[in-house]
Amino acid sequence: MALMELALALAFGFLFACCGLLRWNEVRYRKKGLPPGTMGWPLFGETTEFLKQGPNFMKNQRARYGSLFKSHILGCPTVVCMDPEINRYIFMNESKGLVPGYPQSMLDILGERNIAAVTGPLHKSMRSAMLNLINPSMIRDQLLPKIDEFMRSHLSNWNEKVIDIQEKTKEMALFSALKQIASIESGPESEALKAAVFQLVLGTLSLPINLPGTNYRRAFQARRRLVEILRKIIEKRRTSLSSHGDMLDLLLLKADDECMKAKLNDEQIIDLIIALVYSGYETVSTTTMMAIKYLHDHPKALHELRKEHMEIRKEKSHEEGIDWSDYKSMAFTRAVIFETLRMATVVNGVLRKTTQDTKLKGFVIPKGWRIYVYTREINYDPCLYPEPLSFNPWRWMDRSLDTQQHFMIFGGGSRLCPGKELGTVEIATFLHYFVTRYRYEEVGRAVILEFPRVEAPNGLRIRVQSY
Ligand code: HEM
Repeated sequence: MALMELALALAFGFLFACCGLLRWNEVRYRKKGLPPGTMGWPLFGETTEFLKQGPNFMKNQRARYGSLFKSHILGCPTVVCMDPEINRYIFMNESKGLVPGYPQSMLDILGERNIAAVTGPLHKSMRSAMLNLINPSMIRDQLLPKIDEFMRSHLSNWNEKVIDIQEKTKEMALFSALKQIASIESGPESEALKAAVFQLVLGTLSLPINLPGTNYRRAFQARRRLVEILRKIIEKRRTSLSSHGDMLDLLLLKADDECMKAKLNDEQIIDLIIALVYSGYETVSTTTMMAIKYLHDHPKALHELRKEHMEIRKEKSHEEGIDWSDYKSMAFTRAVIFETLRMATVVNGVLRKTTQDTKLKGFVIPKGWRIYVYTREINYDPCLYPEPLSFNPWRWMDRSLDTQQHFMIFGGGSRLCPGKELGTVEIATFLHYFVTRYRYEEVGRAVILEFPRVEAPNGLRIRVQSY
């Protein structure tokens, strides 16, 4: 009996302590003017609930507190914003102290000078250097021929094979980028870069714990290897007399040009290349994989897409590649890509932080707090997208949805994705060769996770046959 009483007393004591801690943490953050919401446990906040429940956590909190609520996730007091108008305001007002607020692990691994970390004039000059490399006329004249050549070879010899399309699209996004950036072809150098980039990506979404065996430590080491390889490539390029017609040629030309006001040093060039590879890698590979999955599950859409690409091939010999005007004629393909981006929501939102106390919707967000500009729910808003859960590329043909003000798949304002067109061209070229060369069927039924990143943990296997 005494033992039972002791156990009961301990249980009550524990419960009491827990309630006390939770209460203390709420009171700590009960400042006048803050939005409603809960802060969870000291230090850990509501990170576990957020990672476990993902989009449902957001929906539940919104139902209780409205579209602007406070929480404590991923080590930081955070305001989550699900209001499209305010999200747009945040995108457009970086100059009012709403600057990028990516986690420390990401900054450590991608570099303090990476484009997503810098602000003001440095951001302006890095962004302009990047836009010089990937603007539409560069894509038309320099990049599309390289992408086309790459896709033709990447998509050869798949006949009669069972392939993991997740793995193939990851390789596609990375190797295609390496070819465009520094004319790197498949071989030991690209394999070394692949191992380093894969490791780096894993580490950017981890807790910054620098202990042996952690993803963070491995990513940090991968960054060092990556920087070493890129430095060697730059040194070799400086002594080379021949021109390669790639992004690195252009970057070095600018860096060596005495007249250039905003010239980049080698460290900045390396961080710019890492940012290019990192930003385009997962977005392009996952969107391509998911497009193939949705098309498989929606034969009518696949038929329409194939018809569009067969029409383009009708005018060409087998060896002839596609050009800018072919790409521009791919209206349905573009619609498939946008619908895939909407349905799969490859990017759930973006992170900002406040550099001063900031007023939003009548609330005051304290200096140093993070803002999670959560755009995911806009993609499933039935007022914008009737029957939002059905894959319907045709909706993008009817009206110019991608120019409406709530379209935030590529972000907005001064940080609007500079790789929007390039990413679309890469996915469209991949789809061109994929559907004109092959028919395919899924082997089994793959598990697809939606959160925190879209992925098929056991791969997505398809059986491929020549068309
Ligand atoms: C096709 C899929 C893509 C999607 C959905 C996508 C989405 C986004 C989003 C939402 C942002 C805004 C981030 C923010 O505001 O903090 C962004 C920024 C960025 N994206 Fe993309 N992106 C894609 C492809 C690419 C590609 C292919 C590249 C490079 C070749 C690229 C390079 C960048 C860079 C460098 C930034 C940072 C811009 C800045 O801070 O000024 N993206 N992207």
